[in-house]
Amino acid sequence: MANEISSNSETVPSRGQWASHLGFILAAAGSAIGLGNIWKFPYITGEYGGGAFVLVYLICVVIVGLPLMIAEIMIGRRAQQNPVGAFQELHHKNSPWQLTGWLGVASGFLILSFYSVVAGWAIAYIFKSIVGFSGSPEQIQNQFTELVVSPFDSVLWHSVFMMLCIAIVIGGVQRGIERWSKILMPALFVILIGLMFYGLFFTHGGSQALEFLFKPDFSKLSAEAALSALGHAFFTLSLGMGAMITYGSYMKKSDNIFKNAVMVSFLDTLIALMAGTAIFSLVFHYGMEPGQSVGLIFKTLPVLFKETGPGISVPFFILLSFAALTSGISLLEVVVSYFIDIRGWSRAKATFLLGGAIYLFGLLSAISSITLPFRGKDQGIFDILDFVTTNYMLPVGGLLTCLFTAWVFKRKAKIDEFGSGDTLYRVFDIIIKVVTPIAVIIVLLHGLELLPFMDYGK
Ligand code: PFF
Repeated sequence: MANEISSNSETVPSRGQWASHLGFILAAAGSAIGLGNIWKFPYITGEYGGGAFVLVYLICVVIVGLPLMIAEIMIGRRAQQNPVGAFQELHHKNSPWQLTGWLGVASGFLILSFYSVVAGWAIAYIFKSIVGFSGSPEQIQNQFTELVVSPFDSVLWHSVFMMLCIAIVIGGVQRGIERWSKILMPALFVILIGLMFYGLFFTHGGSQALEFLFKPDFSKLSAEAALSALGHAFFTLSLGMGAMITYGSYMKKSDNIFKNAVMVSFLDTLIALMAGTAIFSLVFHYGMEPGQSVGLIFKTLPVLFKETGPGISVPFFILLSFAALTSGISLLEVVVSYFIDIRGWSRAKATFLLGGAIYLFGLLSAISSITLPFRGKDQGIFDILDFVTTNYMLPVGGLLTCLFTAWVFKRKAKIDEFGSGDTLYRVFDIIIKVVTPIAVIIVLLHGLELLPFMDYGK
């Protein structure tokens, strides 16, 4: 990557850039598609009763997710900076808006620390699948509990995942992230298509799964389900923490931001729906309950995998680990890019030191037995970090990004970056000024349990 490393140059080293148009789409889709799509989306859809939740989630992706993704990419490409530097560049050096970037860097650090633990479980399950699942359903489900409470296993797999992330991010923008995404993303897609077809045509649960996912039953749609759908749109599209600002900063001037954002949001949603179809086909085939909470993949599916054999389970957990890896590297890249751009560190130094720090901090989540009194109950560090980042940090980051784009980002620069026609820009402008901030404020108030029309059981 000749243009990225110019150590003798007096100027700040020039930044990396995606080598091809496909590079951005694959890397950004790789960031968006992760545990959020394959692990979280199916289980919350199961919990909130299916179709109606899915419909609201899809609406949220369009009116909140897509505009915010466009905004983040525009900020990144215009500024050619990490999330902190981007707000300084587009406003001024001491701009208070840089706090948005700081919040993003902090979010990336915290999210990766626990994300890596779940991703580690996914890798552990590749090996468990190869050995095969045997015994009673209870014994199979206990394997997950054993893994979670065993400090040795959790730490081991967390270490493996963080080492992979560090190795890829050290490779830099083209040699690392782009090259790996080019291999991993299509592989993931192919495996998922295979699993979905298996679910649809080789089990008896296919049509029931489709009905569950796509036939809305509005009597099941609580206000809380609607708000959770909105919150999930943030997490799944990697928004609110500058990941898309960072990836956008490596995007070529000639690429069309609007089209790219549409493509990434579409792929992310498609993968979630495909994963949902595959998983619920199996769930219904075996007559199980869809609302199985966080254990859906790690506890329930292995019971089903005992019958289907490693031919299904091994690809499934490889896919989950791939998806987590391409998201993990984007979380690390946000943190690393800040130290490269602002502190002038080399990529290797920044990646080792920050990756190492995240790894060490993640040990707290890996050792899930450490609990603290939080929200009236004893909760693991893992749950607390997940709760605080998803419910507070991402929505605040998203709201600030949205307000910045709507009112501070110069209009001429915005039009220049947006790249698609006048009318489309005007629609975007209205949505980002009115619709998106209102929707985000609602999510945030919900996170704080402050929405007046909700019953929070107080
Ligand atoms: N979007 C990822 C997922 O769905 O698993 C998680 C994530 C990655 C969130 C990167 C935020 C981020 F910046």
